[in-house]
Amino acid sequence: MAGPLASPAPRLAPRWFDVLRALEEAGAGTPSYVYDLDAMQRDASAVVAAFGDRPGNVFYAVKANSAGSIVRALAARGCGADVVSGAELLLALRCGVDPESIVYSGVAKADEELDAAIGCGDRGIRAVQAESIEEIPRIDARARAAGRIARVALRINPGVSFEELGTHAHVATGHDEAKFGIAKEDLRFALAEVDAAKSVTLCGLSSHVGSQFFRVDPYVTAARILCGIAKEVRASHPLEFLDTGGGFGVDYTGESPATPADEFVRAALDVMKREGQDDLALHVEPGRCLVAAHGVLVARVIQRKQSRARPEDRWLLIDAGMNDLIRPALYQAKHRVVPLGTTQAGASTEAWRVVGPVCESADDFGEHALPGGGFDHVALLDAGAYGYTMASRYNGRAMPGEVFVSGGRVVASLARRPMAEWANERALS
Ligand SMILES: Cc1ncc(COP(=O)(O)O)c(C=O)c1O
Repeated sequence: MAGPLASPAPRLAPRWFDVLRALEEAGAGTPSYVYDLDAMQRDASAVVAAFGDRPGNVFYAVKANSAGSIVRALAARGCGADVVSGAELLLALRCGVDPESIVYSGVAKADEELDAAIGCGDRGIRAVQAESIEEIPRIDARARAAGRIARVALRINPGVSFEELGTHAHVATGHDEAKFGIAKEDLRFALAEVDAAKSVTLCGLSSHVGSQFFRVDPYVTAARILCGIAKEVRASHPLEFLDTGGGFGVDYTGESPATPADEFVRAALDVMKREGQDDLALHVEPGRCLVAAHGVLVARVIQRKQSRARPEDRWLLIDAGMNDLIRPALYQAKHRVVPLGTTQAGASTEAWRVVGPVCESADDFGEHALPGGGFDHVALLDAGAYGYTMASRYNGRAMPGEVFVSGGRVVASLARRPMAEWANERALS
């Protein structure tokens, strides 16, 4: 294990209310996520405002955090929903999102999921984003059976490698080997399939090339390729919109700020103008950038562990594990860990490896500079995106709790489920 870390322990930003008090007020237990709904709304408003007088173009990627309180809060600031499953679609509808403000991506949509998308509202959702040529006749058949015309966008894979994009291989989706989207070389075959489909109308082109873009350049590159493809398509087929996806980055280190999401929107609008495509609407699908920084995962310290022979080997054992927050295990992500409670500001720190209770060596949140004692809870920062939504009950662990705060008050919460629930359920299987 490495020697002592020089840096002081990071502390919760001053705007964070007392998360332990919020947990207590909600009776949520640990581990639990605590979210700041006001900050999410503020960020969503900035992205919506970047469109100026072109309303209704921000589709929040529900997969980032599907809590109803969040989907409703963002919808109240003008966000629609980008969904990737029938269940997410139903959730968005239940949260009051207008079908006209929902787009649906996904490589393997089941018939019942297509039926839900095509059948809702007066004319189905804004767009089913087809991810393969083979999906087009399937959408056509479901629309015909429903007696409707399905509005379809083609998700095009612009063929940009993750080296070009400068992002992690697991979150790069726009390269040639990706399972996502239709290869741009296959475009004419996709259009032929659209022409043959009588219950489908083509309304847009979409792409989502990856996540965690810190600078606008790779996003702009993909948007420019999409504009080029749009020119080609529009020679024979009218379009209404281009969808450049999400992927706006979030700084997990607290040291290198990412370009704000609204600047990505302005850059994409600018490319469309330069490429002569600005008569089309622009859709974007931000997820992480609206919610990640506004959620923390609060965990209790179960105990400390230290090697007697090598005292520099120290572990802080907490009650949150990779089942609650899988990003470190899946993407080698590192979330800052801060002590909560009685610790004095400026207390001296040493290197502690923060680990969870799950029986996997990957259940490891990395090494952090923390005081040797004086606290019994920690917060893992920037955990508002791809945290709860990727949580599991592996090892018989309960789903984490969730607490939603607005105006400094707990406005909704979901307690961590009791330990016996899992055992009772599994005993029946
Ligand atoms: C199709 C699609 N749109 C939008 C997003 C949101 O990406 P992010 O959370 O990085 O903004 C994703 C995430 O994987 C996605 O697959």
